[in-house]
Amino acid sequence: MTARSQALAMFRAVAKKDAGSRIVHQFATDPRRTERMGVEAAGLYVDLSKQSWSAEGFEAALDLARTCDVEGRRNALFGGEAVNNTQGRAVLHPALRAAADADFSALGEPVSKEVNETRNAMARFAVDIGSGAETGGTKQPFTAIVHIGIGGSDLGPRLLWDALRPLEPTIDLRFVANIDPRDMAEALSGLDPETTLVVVVSKTFTTQETLANADLAKAWLAESLSPRRMARHLIGVTAAPEKAEAWGCGKTFGFRDWVGGRYSLWSAVSLSVAVALGWDVFERVLNGAQAMDEHFLTADLERNAPVLLALAQVFNVEGLDRHARTVAPYAHGLRRLPAFLQQLEMESNGKRVKRDGSGVDTATGPVVFGEPGTNGQHAFFQQIHQGPKVVPAEFVVVGHTSEGAMDAREGDAPLWSNALAQAQALMVGKTEAEAKAELIAAGADKAEAERLAPHKTFPGNRPSTTILMDALTPEAVGALIALYEHKTFVEGVIWDINSFDQWGVELGKVLAKAILKDVEAGEPSPSLDPSTAELMKRLMV
Ligand code: F6P
Repeated sequence: MTARSQALAMFRAVAKKDAGSRIVHQFATDPRRTERMGVEAAGLYVDLSKQSWSAEGFEAALDLARTCDVEGRRNALFGGEAVNNTQGRAVLHPALRAAADADFSALGEPVSKEVNETRNAMARFAVDIGSGAETGGTKQPFTAIVHIGIGGSDLGPRLLWDALRPLEPTIDLRFVANIDPRDMAEALSGLDPETTLVVVVSKTFTTQETLANADLAKAWLAESLSPRRMARHLIGVTAAPEKAEAWGCGKTFGFRDWVGGRYSLWSAVSLSVAVALGWDVFERVLNGAQAMDEHFLTADLERNAPVLLALAQVFNVEGLDRHARTVAPYAHGLRRLPAFLQQLEMESNGKRVKRDGSGVDTATGPVVFGEPGTNGQHAFFQQIHQGPKVVPAEFVVVGHTSEGAMDAREGDAPLWSNALAQAQALMVGKTEAEAKAELIAAGADKAEAERLAPHKTFPGNRPSTTILMDALTPEAVGALIALYEHKTFVEGVIWDINSFDQWGVELGKVLAKAILKDVEAGEPSPSLDPSTAELMKRLMV
Protein backbone atom coordinates (compact mmCIF):
# COMPACT_ATOMS: atom_id res chain seq x y z
CA MET A 1 0.00 0.00 0.00
CA THR A 2 1.44 3.41 -0.94
CA ALA A 3 1.51 6.30 1.53
CA ARG A 4 -1.15 8.01 -0.60
CA SER A 5 -3.56 5.08 -0.57
CA GLN A 6 -3.01 4.70 3.18
CA ALA A 7 -3.80 8.40 3.74
CA LEU A 8 -6.85 8.07 1.47
CA ALA A 9 -8.12 5.07 3.45
CA MET A 10 -7.67 6.94 6.72
CA PHE A 11 -9.36 10.01 5.26
CA ARG A 12 -12.36 7.98 4.04
CA ALA A 13 -12.73 6.27 7.44
CA VAL A 14 -12.76 9.59 9.31
CA ALA A 15 -15.16 11.10 6.77
CA LYS A 16 -17.53 8.17 7.24
CA LYS A 17 -17.53 8.86 10.98
CA ASP A 18 -18.19 12.55 10.38
CA ALA A 19 -21.10 11.71 8.09
CA GLY A 20 -22.97 10.49 11.16
CA SER A 21 -22.54 13.70 13.14
CA ARG A 22 -24.29 17.07 12.84
CA ILE A 23 -22.42 20.22 11.84
CA VAL A 24 -24.19 22.29 14.52
CA HIS A 25 -22.91 19.91 17.20
CA GLN A 26 -19.35 20.37 15.91
CA PHE A 27 -19.64 24.07 16.84
CA ALA A 28 -20.85 23.13 20.29
CA THR A 29 -17.96 20.77 20.97
CA ASP A 30 -15.20 22.82 19.32
CA PRO A 31 -15.13 26.46 20.42
CA ARG A 32 -12.24 27.24 18.03
CA ARG A 33 -14.04 25.87 14.95
CA THR A 34 -14.92 29.20 13.32
CA GLU A 35 -11.42 30.54 13.86
CA ARG A 36 -9.65 27.38 12.68
CA MET A 37 -11.81 26.90 9.60
CA GLY A 38 -12.01 30.56 8.58
CA VAL A 39 -9.06 32.01 6.67
CA GLU A 40 -8.22 35.40 5.25
CA ALA A 41 -6.41 35.49 1.95
CA ALA A 42 -5.63 38.43 -0.35
CA GLY A 43 -8.55 40.44 1.01
CA LEU A 44 -11.05 37.56 0.90
CA TYR A 45 -12.43 35.61 3.84
CA VAL A 46 -13.20 31.94 3.35
CA ASP A 47 -15.42 30.22 5.92
CA LEU A 48 -15.28 26.42 5.84
CA SER A 49 -16.74 25.86 9.30
CA LYS A 50 -20.15 24.89 7.87
CA GLN A 51 -18.59 21.92 6.10
CA SER A 52 -19.30 18.38 7.33
CA TRP A 53 -15.84 17.72 8.71
CA SER A 54 -15.05 17.48 12.40
CA ALA A 55 -11.73 18.73 13.77
CA GLU A 56 -10.47 15.18 13.18
CA GLY A 57 -11.79 15.16 9.61
CA PHE A 58 -10.15 18.50 8.96
CA GLU A 59 -6.81 17.13 10.19
CA ALA A 60 -7.19 13.94 8.13
CA ALA A 61 -7.75 16.10 5.05
CA LEU A 62 -4.60 18.09 5.82
CA ASP A 63 -2.66 14.85 6.26
CA LEU A 64 -3.88 13.72 2.87
CA ALA A 65 -2.67 17.00 1.34
CA ARG A 66 0.73 16.57 2.96
CA THR A 67 1.03 12.97 1.82
CA CYS A 68 0.12 13.96 -1.73
CA ASP A 69 2.91 16.56 -1.58
CA VAL A 70 0.72 19.54 -2.39
CA GLU A 71 3.58 21.87 -1.49
CA GLY A 72 6.05 20.08 -3.74
CA ARG A 73 3.62 20.07 -6.68
CA ARG A 74 2.82 23.73 -6.08
CA ASN A 75 6.53 24.55 -6.22
CA ALA A 76 6.83 22.53 -9.43
CA LEU A 77 4.05 24.63 -10.97
CA PHE A 78 5.57 27.96 -9.96
CA GLY A 79 8.99 26.62 -10.94
CA GLY A 80 7.86 26.10 -14.53
CA GLU A 81 8.25 22.30 -14.58
CA ALA A 82 6.28 20.16 -17.04
CA VAL A 83 3.26 19.94 -14.73
CA ASN A 84 1.06 19.34 -17.80
CA ASN A 85 2.79 16.00 -18.37
CA THR A 86 0.66 14.73 -21.26
CA GLN A 87 1.56 17.73 -23.39
CA GLY A 88 5.03 18.26 -21.93
CA ARG A 89 4.22 21.84 -20.95
CA ALA A 90 4.79 24.13 -18.02
CA VAL A 91 1.73 25.75 -16.46
CA LEU A 92 2.61 29.31 -15.67
CA HIS A 93 -0.45 31.54 -15.51
CA PRO A 94 0.97 33.09 -12.28
CA ALA A 95 3.81 34.53 -14.42
CA LEU A 96 1.23 36.62 -16.29
CA ARG A 97 0.18 38.52 -13.19
CA ALA A 98 3.54 38.68 -11.43
CA ALA A 99 5.41 41.89 -10.56
CA ALA A 100 7.43 43.47 -13.36
CA ASP A 101 10.72 42.31 -11.79
CA ALA A 102 9.61 38.67 -11.45
CA ASP A 103 11.75 35.97 -12.97
CA PHE A 104 9.71 32.99 -14.16
CA SER A 105 10.99 30.22 -16.42
CA ALA A 106 9.02 27.64 -18.40
CA LEU A 107 10.92 24.34 -18.72
CA GLY A 108 14.06 26.34 -17.98
CA GLU A 109 13.42 29.08 -20.55
CA PRO A 110 13.02 32.60 -19.05
CA VAL A 111 9.57 34.05 -19.81
CA SER A 112 9.09 37.14 -17.67
CA LYS A 113 10.72 39.54 -20.14
CA GLU A 114 8.31 38.52 -22.88
CA VAL A 115 5.37 38.69 -20.48
CA ASN A 116 6.29 42.28 -19.60
CA GLU A 117 6.69 43.23 -23.25
CA THR A 118 3.22 41.92 -24.10
CA ARG A 119 1.75 43.59 -21.04
CA ASN A 120 3.34 46.91 -22.05
CA ALA A 121 2.07 46.56 -25.59
CA MET A 122 -1.44 45.86 -24.26
CA ALA A 123 -1.24 48.89 -21.97
CA ARG A 124 -0.12 51.13 -24.84
CA PHE A 125 -2.89 49.83 -27.06
CA ALA A 126 -5.52 50.36 -24.33
CA VAL A 127 -4.32 53.90 -23.70
CA ASP A 128 -4.15 54.71 -27.42
CA ILE A 129 -7.65 53.47 -28.08
CA GLY A 130 -8.92 55.43 -25.08
CA SER A 131 -7.20 58.63 -26.23
CA GLY A 132 -8.19 58.19 -29.86
CA ALA A 133 -4.56 57.93 -30.99
CA GLU A 134 -5.34 54.46 -32.36
CA THR A 135 -8.17 54.78 -34.88
CA GLY A 136 -9.99 52.72 -37.45
CA GLY A 137 -9.30 52.66 -41.17
CA THR A 138 -11.27 55.84 -41.78
CA LYS A 139 -9.48 57.66 -38.94
CA GLN A 140 -12.46 57.54 -36.62
CA PRO A 141 -11.96 56.58 -32.96
CA PHE A 142 -13.19 53.16 -31.86
CA THR A 143 -16.40 53.20 -29.84
CA ALA A 144 -17.21 49.48 -29.85
CA ILE A 145 -15.34 46.17 -29.59
CA VAL A 146 -16.60 42.77 -30.67
CA HIS A 147 -14.69 40.07 -28.78
CA ILE A 148 -14.86 36.72 -30.57
CA GLY A 149 -13.74 33.58 -28.73
CA ILE A 150 -15.09 30.48 -26.99
CA GLY A 151 -14.34 28.50 -23.82
CA GLY A 152 -11.29 29.90 -22.12
CA SER A 153 -11.03 32.58 -24.79
CA ASP A 154 -14.44 33.89 -23.78
CA LEU A 155 -15.56 32.99 -20.25
CA GLY A 156 -12.84 34.74 -18.23
CA PRO A 157 -12.95 38.07 -20.10
CA ARG A 158 -16.76 38.00 -20.01
CA LEU A 159 -16.72 37.38 -16.25
CA LEU A 160 -14.32 40.29 -15.72
CA TRP A 161 -16.37 42.63 -17.86
CA ASP A 162 -19.66 41.80 -16.16
CA ALA A 163 -18.06 42.14 -12.73
CA LEU A 164 -16.29 45.43 -13.29
CA ARG A 165 -17.94 47.29 -16.17
CA PRO A 166 -19.15 50.81 -15.47
CA LEU A 167 -22.87 51.41 -15.81
CA GLU A 168 -22.29 53.56 -18.86
CA PRO A 169 -19.09 52.37 -20.52
CA THR A 170 -17.32 54.53 -23.07
CA ILE A 171 -16.56 51.45 -25.15
CA ASP A 172 -19.47 49.21 -26.08
CA LEU A 173 -17.93 45.76 -25.55
CA ARG A 174 -19.82 42.77 -26.93
CA PHE A 175 -18.94 39.08 -26.85
CA VAL A 176 -19.64 36.39 -29.44
CA ALA A 177 -18.98 32.70 -28.78
CA ASN A 178 -21.73 30.57 -30.29
CA ILE A 179 -21.46 29.28 -33.85
CA ASP A 180 -25.18 29.98 -34.14
CA PRO A 181 -25.09 33.07 -36.45
CA ARG A 182 -27.74 34.67 -34.28
CA ASP A 183 -25.05 35.32 -31.65
CA MET A 184 -23.01 37.39 -34.10
CA ALA A 185 -26.10 39.09 -35.54
CA GLU A 186 -27.12 40.24 -32.07
CA ALA A 187 -23.60 41.46 -31.29
CA LEU A 188 -23.30 43.47 -34.50
CA SER A 189 -26.76 44.95 -34.28
CA GLY A 190 -26.59 48.74 -34.14
CA LEU A 191 -22.81 48.91 -34.52
CA ASP A 192 -20.95 50.99 -37.10
CA PRO A 193 -18.13 49.07 -38.85
CA GLU A 194 -16.05 52.26 -39.12
CA THR A 195 -15.89 52.60 -35.31
CA THR A 196 -15.83 48.91 -34.35
CA LEU A 197 -12.77 46.89 -33.44
CA VAL A 198 -12.98 43.12 -33.84
CA VAL A 199 -10.76 41.12 -31.49
CA VAL A 200 -10.44 37.45 -32.46
CA VAL A 201 -9.21 35.41 -29.50
CA SER A 202 -8.09 31.85 -29.99
CA LYS A 203 -5.06 30.15 -28.50
CA THR A 204 -4.85 27.71 -31.40
CA PHE A 205 -6.51 29.87 -34.07
CA THR A 206 -8.12 26.67 -35.35
CA THR A 207 -11.34 26.58 -33.32
CA GLN A 208 -14.29 26.04 -35.65
CA GLU A 209 -16.75 28.33 -33.86
CA THR A 210 -14.31 31.21 -33.51
CA LEU A 211 -13.09 31.05 -37.10
CA ALA A 212 -16.66 30.90 -38.43
CA ASN A 213 -17.59 33.94 -36.35
CA ALA A 214 -14.41 35.77 -37.33
CA ASP A 215 -15.31 35.23 -41.00
CA LEU A 216 -18.78 36.67 -40.38
CA ALA A 217 -17.30 39.74 -38.69
CA LYS A 218 -14.77 40.20 -41.47
CA ALA A 219 -17.52 40.03 -44.09
CA TRP A 220 -19.51 42.62 -42.14
CA LEU A 221 -16.51 44.99 -42.02
CA ALA A 222 -15.81 44.39 -45.69
CA GLU A 223 -19.20 45.84 -46.62
CA SER A 224 -17.92 49.26 -45.51
CA LEU A 225 -14.11 49.11 -45.57
CA SER A 226 -11.44 48.31 -48.13
CA PRO A 227 -9.13 45.36 -47.24
CA ARG A 228 -6.28 47.75 -46.36
CA ARG A 229 -8.46 49.83 -44.03
CA MET A 230 -10.14 46.76 -42.58
CA ALA A 231 -6.84 45.37 -41.23
CA ARG A 232 -6.79 48.16 -38.63
CA HIS A 233 -10.08 46.76 -37.29
CA LEU A 234 -8.93 43.15 -36.95
CA ILE A 235 -6.84 42.19 -33.93
CA GLY A 236 -5.72 38.64 -33.19
CA VAL A 237 -4.92 37.28 -29.74
CA THR A 238 -3.30 33.89 -30.08
CA ALA A 239 -0.42 31.54 -29.47
CA ALA A 240 -0.31 31.02 -33.26
CA PRO A 241 0.30 34.58 -34.62
CA GLU A 242 1.25 33.35 -38.09
CA LYS A 243 -2.24 31.86 -38.51
CA ALA A 244 -3.91 35.08 -37.31
CA GLU A 245 -1.84 37.18 -39.71
CA ALA A 246 -2.52 34.84 -42.62
CA TRP A 247 -6.24 35.14 -41.86
CA GLY A 248 -6.08 38.95 -42.01
CA CYS A 249 -5.37 40.38 -38.58
CA GLY A 250 -3.62 43.75 -38.80
CA LYS A 251 -2.09 43.34 -35.36
CA THR A 252 -1.59 40.41 -33.03
CA PHE A 253 -0.93 39.97 -29.32
CA GLY A 254 0.60 36.70 -28.25
CA PHE A 255 0.81 34.25 -25.41
CA ARG A 256 2.59 30.94 -25.01
CA ASP A 257 1.57 27.30 -24.81
CA TRP A 258 2.29 27.32 -21.07
CA VAL A 259 -0.91 29.32 -20.64
CA GLY A 260 -3.91 26.96 -20.57
CA GLY A 261 -7.06 28.32 -22.27
CA ARG A 262 -9.14 28.27 -19.08
CA TYR A 263 -6.30 29.93 -17.17
CA SER A 264 -5.65 32.59 -19.80
CA LEU A 265 -7.68 35.61 -18.72
CA TRP A 266 -4.52 37.19 -17.26
CA SER A 267 -2.94 37.32 -20.72
CA ALA A 268 -3.72 39.27 -23.89
CA VAL A 269 -6.89 37.13 -24.00
CA SER A 270 -8.40 39.94 -21.90
CA LEU A 271 -7.19 42.66 -24.28
CA SER A 272 -10.70 43.85 -25.14
CA VAL A 273 -11.62 44.02 -21.46
CA ALA A 274 -8.41 45.90 -20.62
CA VAL A 275 -9.23 48.41 -23.35
CA ALA A 276 -12.87 48.83 -22.31
CA LEU A 277 -12.24 48.95 -18.56
CA GLY A 278 -9.03 50.96 -18.83
CA TRP A 279 -5.54 49.57 -18.29
CA ASP A 280 -5.34 50.72 -14.67
CA VAL A 281 -8.40 48.64 -13.78
CA PHE A 282 -7.04 45.54 -15.51
CA GLU A 283 -3.73 45.99 -13.74
CA ARG A 284 -5.55 45.99 -10.42
CA VAL A 285 -7.16 42.66 -11.37
CA LEU A 286 -3.66 41.27 -11.97
CA ASN A 287 -2.49 42.66 -8.62
CA GLY A 288 -5.34 40.92 -6.80
CA ALA A 289 -4.44 37.61 -8.41
CA GLN A 290 -0.78 38.18 -7.59
CA ALA A 291 -1.68 38.66 -3.91
CA MET A 292 -3.50 35.30 -3.99
CA ASP A 293 -0.44 33.67 -5.60
CA GLU A 294 1.67 35.02 -2.78
CA HIS A 295 -0.76 33.64 -0.21
CA PHE A 296 -0.90 30.23 -1.90
CA LEU A 297 2.88 30.08 -2.02
CA THR A 298 3.59 31.16 1.53
CA ALA A 299 0.69 30.31 3.85
CA ASP A 300 0.92 27.10 5.89
CA LEU A 301 -1.36 24.40 4.55
CA GLU A 302 -3.78 24.71 7.49
CA ARG A 303 -4.22 28.45 6.81
CA ASN A 304 -4.01 28.24 3.03
CA ALA A 305 -7.33 29.24 1.44
CA PRO A 306 -7.00 27.45 -1.94
CA VAL A 307 -5.76 24.31 -0.18
CA LEU A 308 -8.59 24.28 2.36
CA LEU A 309 -11.21 25.02 -0.29
CA ALA A 310 -9.88 22.09 -2.30
CA LEU A 311 -9.85 19.81 0.73
CA ALA A 312 -13.47 20.65 1.52
CA GLN A 313 -14.41 19.58 -1.99
CA VAL A 314 -12.33 16.39 -1.76
CA PHE A 315 -13.97 15.67 1.60
CA ASN A 316 -17.42 15.93 0.02
CA VAL A 317 -16.61 14.01 -3.14
CA GLU A 318 -14.25 11.37 -1.86
CA GLY A 319 -15.27 11.12 1.76
CA LEU A 320 -19.02 11.55 1.54
CA ASP A 321 -19.97 10.54 -2.01
CA ARG A 322 -21.33 13.97 -2.95
CA HIS A 323 -20.70 14.41 -6.63
CA ALA A 324 -22.13 17.83 -7.35
CA ARG A 325 -21.59 21.32 -5.97
CA THR A 326 -23.64 24.44 -6.52
CA VAL A 327 -22.05 27.88 -6.61
CA ALA A 328 -24.19 30.92 -5.88
CA PRO A 329 -22.52 34.31 -6.23
CA TYR A 330 -24.62 36.91 -4.44
CA ALA A 331 -23.76 39.77 -6.80
CA HIS A 332 -25.23 40.49 -10.20
CA GLY A 333 -21.72 41.34 -11.41
CA LEU A 334 -20.58 37.78 -10.67
CA ARG A 335 -23.45 36.13 -12.54
CA ARG A 336 -20.99 34.52 -14.96
CA LEU A 337 -18.95 32.90 -12.20
CA PRO A 338 -20.78 29.54 -12.34
CA ALA A 339 -20.23 29.30 -16.12
CA PHE A 340 -16.57 30.20 -15.69
CA LEU A 341 -16.14 27.59 -12.94
CA GLN A 342 -17.85 24.92 -15.00
CA GLN A 343 -15.04 25.16 -17.50
CA LEU A 344 -12.26 25.76 -14.98
CA GLU A 345 -13.16 22.84 -12.77
CA MET A 346 -14.85 20.34 -15.06
CA GLU A 347 -12.43 20.71 -17.97
CA SER A 348 -9.51 20.58 -15.55
CA ASN A 349 -10.60 17.78 -13.26
CA GLY A 350 -13.16 15.76 -15.21
CA LYS A 351 -10.61 12.98 -15.72
CA ARG A 352 -10.67 9.19 -15.50
CA VAL A 353 -6.99 8.36 -15.55
CA LYS A 354 -4.14 9.41 -13.31
CA ARG A 355 -1.04 11.26 -14.41
CA ASP A 356 0.63 7.94 -15.20
CA GLY A 357 -2.29 6.75 -17.37
CA SER A 358 -3.63 4.19 -14.92
CA GLY A 359 -7.29 4.37 -13.89
CA VAL A 360 -8.16 6.74 -11.06
CA ASP A 361 -8.71 5.30 -7.58
CA THR A 362 -10.90 8.25 -6.55
CA ALA A 363 -13.98 9.97 -7.92
CA THR A 364 -12.31 13.20 -9.27
CA GLY A 365 -14.13 16.46 -10.02
CA PRO A 366 -17.83 16.85 -9.25
CA VAL A 367 -20.52 18.43 -11.42
CA VAL A 368 -20.44 22.19 -10.84
CA PHE A 369 -23.50 24.31 -11.49
CA GLY A 370 -25.08 27.47 -10.25
CA GLU A 371 -26.91 30.71 -10.69
CA PRO A 372 -26.47 34.08 -9.07
CA GLY A 373 -28.29 34.67 -5.80
CA THR A 374 -31.01 35.27 -5.09
CA ASN A 375 -32.25 33.97 -8.49
CA GLY A 376 -31.14 30.39 -7.76
CA GLN A 377 -33.21 30.34 -4.57
CA HIS A 378 -36.34 30.59 -6.72
CA ALA A 379 -35.22 27.86 -9.08
CA PHE A 380 -33.23 24.85 -7.85
CA PHE A 381 -32.61 25.53 -4.17
CA GLN A 382 -35.69 23.47 -3.29
CA GLN A 383 -33.68 20.36 -4.14
CA ILE A 384 -30.60 21.56 -2.24
CA HIS A 385 -32.75 21.94 0.90
CA GLN A 386 -35.03 18.91 0.66
CA GLY A 387 -33.77 16.53 -2.03
CA PRO A 388 -32.70 13.10 -0.75
CA LYS A 389 -29.10 13.56 -1.95
CA VAL A 390 -26.83 16.17 -0.42
CA VAL A 391 -25.44 18.82 -2.78
CA PRO A 392 -22.81 21.00 -1.08
CA ALA A 393 -23.26 24.71 -1.71
CA GLU A 394 -20.83 27.58 -2.07
CA PHE A 395 -21.89 31.16 -1.42
CA VAL A 396 -19.81 34.03 -2.75
CA VAL A 397 -20.98 37.02 -0.78
CA VAL A 398 -20.11 40.65 -1.46
CA GLY A 399 -20.35 43.43 1.14
CA HIS A 400 -20.43 46.28 -1.40
CA THR A 401 -21.59 45.23 -4.84
CA SER A 402 -20.26 48.38 -6.43
CA GLU A 403 -16.94 49.99 -5.63
CA GLY A 404 -18.31 53.48 -6.18
CA ALA A 405 -20.94 53.04 -3.49
CA MET A 406 -18.83 52.28 -0.45
CA ASP A 407 -21.58 53.55 1.82
CA ALA A 408 -24.12 51.21 0.31
CA ARG A 409 -23.68 48.40 2.84
CA GLU A 410 -27.29 48.74 3.91
CA GLY A 411 -28.42 48.76 0.29
CA ASP A 412 -26.64 45.48 -0.27
CA ALA A 413 -27.91 43.88 2.95
CA PRO A 414 -31.09 42.41 1.40
CA LEU A 415 -28.80 40.55 -0.99
CA TRP A 416 -26.18 39.24 1.41
CA SER A 417 -28.63 38.53 4.21
CA ASN A 418 -30.24 36.02 1.86
CA ALA A 419 -26.90 34.26 1.34
CA LEU A 420 -26.26 34.00 5.06
CA ALA A 421 -29.82 32.77 5.61
CA GLN A 422 -29.51 30.06 2.97
CA ALA A 423 -26.28 28.74 4.47
CA GLN A 424 -27.84 28.79 7.91
CA ALA A 425 -31.02 27.05 6.76
CA LEU A 426 -29.00 24.35 5.04
CA MET A 427 -27.03 23.68 8.19
CA VAL A 428 -29.71 24.04 10.87
CA GLY A 429 -32.78 22.71 9.08
CA LYS A 430 -36.16 22.30 10.78
CA THR A 431 -37.33 19.17 12.60
CA GLU A 432 -40.72 17.58 12.06
CA ALA A 433 -41.72 18.54 15.62
CA GLU A 434 -40.84 22.18 14.91
CA ALA A 435 -42.77 22.09 11.66
CA LYS A 436 -45.78 20.60 13.44
CA ALA A 437 -45.66 23.19 16.23
CA GLU A 438 -45.51 26.00 13.66
CA LEU A 439 -48.53 24.62 11.82
CA ILE A 440 -50.54 24.36 15.02
CA ALA A 441 -49.52 27.88 16.02
CA ALA A 442 -50.76 29.05 12.61
CA GLY A 443 -54.22 27.52 13.30
CA ALA A 444 -53.99 24.02 11.75
CA ASP A 445 -55.68 21.17 13.61
CA LYS A 446 -53.61 18.19 14.81
CA ALA A 447 -54.47 15.94 11.85
CA GLU A 448 -53.65 18.65 9.32
CA ALA A 449 -50.39 19.49 11.14
CA GLU A 450 -49.38 15.83 11.06
CA ARG A 451 -50.23 15.52 7.38
CA LEU A 452 -48.22 18.59 6.35
CA ALA A 453 -45.30 18.46 8.77
CA PRO A 454 -43.19 15.96 6.75
CA HIS A 455 -43.41 18.28 3.74
CA LYS A 456 -42.30 21.25 5.82
CA THR A 457 -39.39 19.47 7.49
CA PHE A 458 -35.82 20.38 6.50
CA PRO A 459 -33.22 17.71 7.27
CA GLY A 460 -30.47 20.34 7.64
CA ASN A 461 -26.86 19.26 8.19
CA ARG A 462 -26.13 20.24 4.58
CA PRO A 463 -22.66 21.67 4.12
CA SER A 464 -21.71 24.98 2.60
CA THR A 465 -18.72 27.25 2.16
CA THR A 466 -18.98 31.01 2.26
CA ILE A 467 -16.46 33.26 0.53
CA LEU A 468 -16.68 36.90 1.55
CA MET A 469 -15.50 39.82 -0.54
CA ASP A 470 -15.71 43.20 1.09
CA ALA A 471 -16.40 44.90 -2.24
CA LEU A 472 -16.51 44.00 -5.90
CA THR A 473 -13.16 45.68 -6.57
CA PRO A 474 -10.79 44.68 -9.40
CA GLU A 475 -8.35 43.33 -6.80
CA ALA A 476 -11.01 41.19 -5.12
CA VAL A 477 -12.22 39.78 -8.43
CA GLY A 478 -8.64 38.91 -9.42
CA ALA A 479 -8.02 37.28 -6.05
CA LEU A 480 -11.27 35.29 -6.26
CA ILE A 481 -10.49 33.85 -9.68
CA ALA A 482 -6.91 32.97 -8.67
CA LEU A 483 -8.28 31.32 -5.52
CA TYR A 484 -10.43 29.04 -7.67
CA GLU A 485 -7.56 28.30 -10.06
CA HIS A 486 -5.27 27.17 -7.26
CA LYS A 487 -8.07 25.23 -5.58
CA THR A 488 -8.67 23.35 -8.83
CA PHE A 489 -4.96 22.56 -9.10
CA VAL A 490 -4.74 21.27 -5.51
CA GLU A 491 -7.68 18.93 -6.10
CA GLY A 492 -5.92 17.59 -9.17
CA VAL A 493 -2.80 16.94 -7.08
CA ILE A 494 -4.80 14.97 -4.52
CA TRP A 495 -6.60 13.00 -7.21
CA ASP A 496 -3.23 12.56 -8.95
CA ILE A 497 -4.58 13.70 -12.32
CA ASN A 498 -3.34 16.17 -14.92
CA SER A 499 -5.60 19.21 -14.53
CA PHE A 500 -4.14 20.94 -17.57
CA ASP A 501 -5.05 18.87 -20.61
CA GLN A 502 -8.54 18.40 -22.13
CA TRP A 503 -8.43 15.47 -24.52
CA GLY A 504 -12.07 14.76 -23.72
CA VAL A 505 -13.22 17.59 -25.97
CA GLU A 506 -11.47 16.22 -29.06
CA LEU A 507 -13.60 13.25 -30.13
CA GLY A 508 -16.76 15.35 -30.51
CA LYS A 509 -14.88 17.89 -32.65
CA VAL A 510 -13.70 15.16 -35.04
CA LEU A 511 -17.15 13.57 -35.28
CA ALA A 512 -18.81 16.98 -35.92
CA LYS A 513 -16.50 17.40 -38.93
CA ALA A 514 -17.43 13.93 -40.22
CA ILE A 515 -21.13 14.70 -39.84
CA LEU A 516 -20.72 17.97 -41.76
CA LYS A 517 -19.02 16.00 -44.52
CA ASP A 518 -22.02 13.66 -44.69
CA VAL A 519 -24.33 16.69 -44.85
CA GLU A 520 -22.34 17.99 -47.83
CA ALA A 521 -22.61 14.56 -49.46
CA GLY A 522 -26.37 14.70 -48.86
CA GLU A 523 -26.65 11.45 -46.89
CA PRO A 524 -25.38 9.78 -43.72
CA SER A 525 -22.39 7.54 -44.25
CA PRO A 526 -23.25 3.80 -44.03
CA SER A 527 -20.98 3.39 -41.01
CA LEU A 528 -23.02 5.86 -38.96
CA ASP A 529 -25.10 4.41 -36.10
CA PRO A 530 -28.85 4.22 -36.89
CA SER A 531 -29.92 6.78 -34.28
CA THR A 532 -27.50 9.48 -35.49
CA ALA A 533 -28.30 8.68 -39.12
CA GLU A 534 -32.06 9.08 -38.48
CA LEU A 535 -31.58 12.39 -36.65
CA MET A 536 -29.36 13.65 -39.45
CA LYS A 537 -31.93 12.74 -42.12
CA ARG A 538 -34.63 14.63 -40.24
CA LEU A 539 -32.41 17.71 -39.85
CA MET A 540 -31.39 17.71 -43.51
CA VAL A 541 -35.00 17.97 -44.75
O1 F6P B 1 -12.56 22.71 -26.94
C1 F6P B 1 -12.02 23.08 -25.71
C2 F6P B 1 -11.04 24.21 -25.86
O2 F6P B 1 -9.86 23.74 -26.37
C3 F6P B 1 -10.82 24.90 -24.53
O3 F6P B 1 -9.93 24.25 -23.73
C4 F6P B 1 -10.42 26.26 -24.97
O4 F6P B 1 -10.51 27.20 -23.95
C5 F6P B 1 -11.40 26.49 -26.10
O5 F6P B 1 -11.53 25.23 -26.72
C6 F6P B 1 -11.01 27.53 -27.10
O6 F6P B 1 -9.80 27.23 -27.71
P1 F6P B 1 -8.99 28.29 -28.55
O7 F6P B 1 -8.62 29.41 -27.62
O8 F6P B 1 -7.80 27.58 -29.10
O9 F6P B 1 -9.89 28.80 -29.64
